Amino acid sequence: TQRTLVLLKPDAVRRGLTGEIISRIERKAGWRITALELRTLEQETLEQHYGEHKGKPFYEPLVEFMASGPVVAMIVEGERVIEGLRALAGPTDPIAAAPGSIRGDYGVIVRENLIHASDSEESAEREVKIFFPGRG
Ligand code: GTP
Ligand code: MG
Repeated sequence: TQRTLVLLKPDAVRRGLTGEIISRIERKAGWRITALELRTLEQETLEQHYGEHKGKPFYEPLVEFMASGPVVAMIVEGERVIEGLRALAGPTDPIAAAPGSIRGDYGVIVRENLIHASDSEESAEREVKIFFPGRG
């Protein structure tokens, strides 16, 4: 089985959508949330997490947005959970995301796209260590 790092972004927390999103994850058969924390992210954490995007035009506003309020950070474990959570989230651009996906149902703006989920096993292991160092 796999594990993945999920962030419910500040827009999801501000809009009161975390319960709804967590419910969708819990309802997937066999998936389990094995860590969950509400917290406001430090600059350093965000630089580590989004290091691959440093220098891109959207990087600074992205980091500013991600620090603008608390996020819900989670580890989710289960069968094919990495691929599965990317599918549940939908594509990065919420307008391109199909209705039924989290971004497709609730999002409009690319930056404020509600959820992050690790995009590969390598990213998942790297990101779990950043957000839950005790769970490395
Ligand atoms: P995450 O799950 O958050 O990593 O999203 P992703 O994997 O679908 O996208 P990616 O890792 O490429 O980019 C990280 C985040 O940066 C995205 O979720 C968006 O919030 C933001 N982002 C990515 N591309 C753009 C862009 O072209 N414009 C803007 N404004 N934001 C972007
Ligand atoms: Mg990504």
